[in-house]
Order: sequence, then structure tokens, then C-alpha cells
Amino acid sequence: MAKQILVTGGAGYIGSHTVVELQNAGFDVVVVDDLSNSSIEVLDNIAKITDKRPVFEQFNLADRNLTASFFKKYPNIEAIIHFAAFKAVGESVQKPLEYYRNNLVSLMNLLEEMKSNDVKHMVFSSSCTVYGQPDVLPVTEQTPRKPAESPYGNTKAICEDMMRDYCATNSSINCIALRYFNPIGAHPTALIGELPVGVPGNLVPFVTQTAAGIREVLSIFGDDYDTPDGTAIRDYINVVDLSKAHVVAIERLLNGKQKSNYEFFNIGTGNGLSVMELVQTFIKVTGVNLKYKVVGRRAGDIEKIWADTTYGCNELGWKAEKTVEETLASAWAWEKNVRGIK
Ligand code: NAD
Ligand code: WQD
Repeated sequence: MAKQILVTGGAGYIGSHTVVELQNAGFDVVVVDDLSNSSIEVLDNIAKITDKRPVFEQFNLADRNLTASFFKKYPNIEAIIHFAAFKAVGESVQKPLEYYRNNLVSLMNLLEEMKSNDVKHMVFSSSCTVYGQPDVLPVTEQTPRKPAESPYGNTKAICEDMMRDYCATNSSINCIALRYFNPIGAHPTALIGELPVGVPGNLVPFVTQTAAGIREVLSIFGDDYDTPDGTAIRDYINVVDLSKAHVVAIERLLNGKQKSNYEFFNIGTGNGLSVMELVQTFIKVTGVNLKYKVVGRRAGDIEKIWADTTYGCNELGWKAEKTVEETLASAWAWEKNVRGIK
């Protein structure tokens, strides 16, 4: 039987786009998701895009017994892409133990089952949040990590450490952590995209929901930062470009191209964009008269961050290709599709 790639959290935002890219590249995919932050219809839409519905199992990866049973049922899993995690920064402050349990225990269960079942490869979703506010920009992989600003951010730092330490004493296990900068946008078909539950915390879903008339006005959090226009700067990476980075990371592992059995890479565009620049680009690209106002800074926000992607691009043979214009247009096309706007 053909070897399979397990995609945990494959019904979620980044996971669903990655399933599409994996299937387009010819991989057989098994999705595990407990649908705690996603819906089953996503799999139908993946099937519409790729003509192939991934195999699906619904359970919580923090459950050790269910995770063990899964690997007995699927003995041909060759590699794992581990997206499944809780990711809301603010919620993690309110519910720290839920975040630690879900995010840490899921990874521990998977690492242990990898060893028991001779699964050798994992790609893990990390985040630029591990850098905090860096002293020097742009950030390279050598930039020191800073103490996490939230329990969510801390789970990413601890998960990285867990993989590093486990790989150090298990030479047959290979892990790559991808440190995503700010993923935005949707698939060009507008069949899959980001669908936050409740009021969006992230900028682009708030922009598109305001444009769609669901939110009254976008609040821009602070225009008194030490940046050219005073608004905060991030490195916004298109979700399809980001998904393709996972395919090349999996191929690196399967082809034995790693330099060590635990590696980590920045995945961004290398360009910083301010909140105001993003808003103005959205207005220009869509022609929508977006209502916005400047309010005070959001607690816990950093001022500016963007990636130096040189090392990751050279090693992986990957780079971000899409422009921010087409990315914002894709986010708007997705929002319109979800809301039934013509
Ligand atoms: P998402 O919430 O859309 O997807 C995560 C999926 O995992 C959801 O479908 C959810 O139902 C599932 N899930 C969560 N816990 C689970 C568990 N214990 N067992 C089984 N399924 C579970 O999030 P996303 O934006 O696609 O993020 C994917 C990964 O990337 C996460 O690890 C996140 O922390 C990381 N990340 C995201 C961003 C971002 O801005 N979106 C940035 C950096 C890193
Ligand atoms: C971007 C910029 C806001 C909403 C978070 C997590 C990080 C990572 C990505 C997972 C900031 C401003 C936002 C709004 C605004 N996730 N903004 N009005 O904060 O860079 O990162 O998501 O790992 O860990 O912290 O992303 O999209 O929330 O904000 O002005 O209504 O937009 O202040 O400057 P952030 P974001």
C-alpha cells in the first residue's frame, strides 16, 4: 500500500491549504482533526479543488489511547505534518492549562507514537512569536528567542524544545519546525480560507468582515510606533505559499536532505508591511470603502517584525511568490464567497 502523510489539524486554515498542495504533489493524505476549530465541509471543498477527498479521522490527539489506536489502524504513515493546536493568543491567557494540555500533550503523544510505530519524520507548525520583539531586524534563524508573551506563545517555544531534546536522543526521528510569520489569504478558488469563530482577533479577517459589513469599523491598534507611518509592521505570508513550504519540508525529510535531525526555518516573505499599508492596499485592490479608525495600542503587541528568509529559502529551495495585492484579493474573494456577496 502507498505511503501516507498524516496531516493533523488538516481541516483547519493552514492545514486544509496544505492538504491541497500535498495532494496536488501526488501524496496520499490522512487528516486527523477533532473539528474543535473547523468543520467537516472543508474536506468536501478540498475534494472539489483536487478531485480527491483525503482520508479523515475525527479525534482529539491529546488522547493517548485514541492516538495509539490510530497508528495501529494506519501502519503506512510515513511522515506527519502537525498543525493541530489551539492558537488564540488572548484565549490562551484566560485558559492557560487548556492550551498547555492541548498543544503540549498532542505533540508528546505523536512523538511517542512515532517511535513505537517507526514513523521517522515530522514537520511542526511553529511561529515567529518565539522571537518576541527582536533587537535586530530582520530576524534570522540565529536571532535569539525571547520569553513568550502568552501561554500560546510559550507552547510553541516548549514544543520546539521538546522536539530538539527528543531528536537529540532519538537519531531515527527527524523534525523540522517552520516558524510562520503572519499567514493570510485564501485559496485562489475561494473554496477554502480562514473562518474564525466569533469576532476575529487577527487583522485580515477583521478587515474582510468589516468590508463585508459584518463589523462596523476596523480599529487600527496604535499609530505611535517607531515605524515610518506609526502603525505596526509584520511579514504577511500567503497561505498557499506557506503550504508549499510544508511540501518541500516533507520532501527534504523523505529524501534525507536534513543537515541535522532537528531543524527550524523562518517562513515569511522577507518584507515588512505596516497595518496602514495593508489597509490601503486592501482598499486599492478591492475598491471597497473600508471604514477604519485609529485607536490605542493593543496590549502585548510588538512594534515590528519581519523575516530574513535567506537561510530557509536556500536550504528548502522555496520562496514566497504571491504579491500582497493578490493575497488580499484572495482573502476578499473568500469572504464574499462565505457571505454570499456577489
Ligand atoms: P486552525 O485552528 O484553523 O487549525 C487547527 C486545527 O487543529 C483545527 O481544525 C482544530 O479543529 C484542530 N485541532 C486543534 N486541537 C486539536 C487536537 N487536540 N486534536 C485534533 N485536532 C485538533 O489554525 P491554523 O491557523 O490553521 O494554525 C495551524 C497551526 O499553525 C497551529 O499549530 C498554529 O498554532 C500554527 N500557527 C498559526 C498561525 C496563524 O496566524 N494562523 C501563525 C503561526 C503558527
Ligand atoms: C497584526 C497587526 C495588530 C487586528 C498573531 C499572534 C502570532 C501569530 C499570528 C500564531 C498588529 C494589528 C489587528 C485589528 C489591528 N499566530 N491589528 N486591528 O498580532 O502579529 O500575531 O497572529 O502563532 O502568534 O500573536 O497578528 O493579525 O493579530 O495583528 O490594528 O483589528 O494588526 O495590532 O499590529 P499578530 P494580528
